[in-house]
Amino acid sequence: MPAFLSHTPLTDESVGADLLIVPVTSSAGDLPRRLGRLGRGVVDATIRAIDLGDFEPSTGRKLLVHSRGFERFPRILLVGLGAPADRTPAGVRKVFIAAAKDPVLENVDSVVVLSDSALGSGRELSQNVTAAVDGLAHGTYRWSAATTPKGPRPGRFAFLGETRTAARVESGVERGRVLASAVSLARTLANEPANRMSPAQLADRARTAAKKAGLTARVLGKAALVRERCEGILTVGGGSAREPRLIVLEYDPGASGSGLAPIALVGKGLVFDTGGLNIKPGSSMGEMKFDKCGACVVIGAMSAIAELAPPFPVVAVVPAVENSISGESYRPGDVIGSRSGKTIEVLNTDAEGRIVLADGLDYAVTKYSPRAVIDVATLTGAAYHALGDHACPLIGNDDGLVERLHSAGEAVGEPVWRLPLWDAYRRDVDTPNADVRNTGAGGAGSIAGAAFLERFVGDVPWAHLDIANVSRDRRDPKIGATGFGVRLLVESLMSWPRPRRRGRAGRRTKRP
Ligand code: BES
Ligand code: MN
Ligand code: ZN
Repeated sequence: MPAFLSHTPLTDESVGADLLIVPVTSSAGDLPRRLGRLGRGVVDATIRAIDLGDFEPSTGRKLLVHSRGFERFPRILLVGLGAPADRTPAGVRKVFIAAAKDPVLENVDSVVVLSDSALGSGRELSQNVTAAVDGLAHGTYRWSAATTPKGPRPGRFAFLGETRTAARVESGVERGRVLASAVSLARTLANEPANRMSPAQLADRARTAAKKAGLTARVLGKAALVRERCEGILTVGGGSAREPRLIVLEYDPGASGSGLAPIALVGKGLVFDTGGLNIKPGSSMGEMKFDKCGACVVIGAMSAIAELAPPFPVVAVVPAVENSISGESYRPGDVIGSRSGKTIEVLNTDAEGRIVLADGLDYAVTKYSPRAVIDVATLTGAAYHALGDHACPLIGNDDGLVERLHSAGEAVGEPVWRLPLWDAYRRDVDTPNADVRNTGAGGAGSIAGAAFLERFVGDVPWAHLDIANVSRDRRDPKIGATGFGVRLLVESLMSWPRPRRRGRAGRRTKRP
């Protein structure tokens, strides 16, 4: 990740950079005043471009201009933010992702972002600076296994503001840095190809990240999974020579918050999904290293949670498994057990994510009695048929929890949309042969997946994010894994009210 810094004041003559990014709103009349302090050349070049009609500050527009002579800022990238009234952190993030993808950024090392009134004032300024950091980190992110890795390009972004808003800009940059490194961790784990990321390797990476962040990590290997009767995980993983793991990360808020019921996150960690004996056609198997994205998102989110320190515990449970083929593979038609004791009829070995999540969810609810459990999973190709890649399906058993996640997604620009879970859908996973079957009635695949998962959460408020359609960028192969879900989880957890203590006259909070 590039370095993100904050700088004041605007008038400091010693501050310069290869590129200056200037956000411009539709009330652009104040540009000469805003830029005046940055040098004559900057003002002239900008005003000329605007006078010629080459730049119009509607959302997402950008224009590169050059200042004449020797200047603190030889290049200026104008980026449009639209009307101040429509400006939101989610929108600002998008604009800065687009700015980060401008080819000029590959040609510069240092960038200064003008962080003044165009980004708002007070709390809004701070939130928009966070969104800008997040967008720039996202747009400049590159994954490569090349042996001579290039350093991040650009190497350094500094946010240049006025003295009186220095604290706002500083805190915005700081939070942006935490978020961006969590997202980048999730993406880097997810982008690793399956040959370099076995369940054991994913567990090691999670442990390393946990240690760095100050989380407790526990990893259950095969023997422990047998002791825990995780038959779903063991069965799906049985076809692979690389044995499954169950990764558990705990965030503990310290004395004031310990003893409170945690929020549990559960992530699908299929390091590779061949489909098993119901093998996938080659065309759709190619992207299956991304079937661990739910796990990576949850691990990334936990690393940010550790830094942002909410006043209640959070636990993450991640089954890491490979769905492969061998003489030990499970078969369509098999009836298997699960940690919960419920039996599962396997109608399709490619619907494996829900089977490993059944054990993960059961582990989370029975060990931790959480006040809510949220699972994140690349569960169904049907997610794409339902919503394209503009929003991901959200399904749950609790209106309050669903609403919380929906509005968090809206706030951070990770839109999610609720699909129904009516009794008719619930009946679709009934079977005469077992407690539940792992496929639905044919249509509504994402809902069928959720209807299956719901059987394993007891009466805990639960929500499921099916990120199969948004976890990697289909349009731009340079982007790879998107980290979709990290921001949403962090945003919702950080705005969650502290629970009341359990056991006081049996009172429990109603909303999760
Ligand atoms: N990992 C896949 C879902 C997936 C598909 C993720 C495309 C990303 C892109 C999942 O395990 C799967 O194979 N689901 C099946 C379920 C079906 C057999 C009921 C699917 O969606 O076809
Ligand atoms: Mn599958
Ligand atoms: Zn899968």
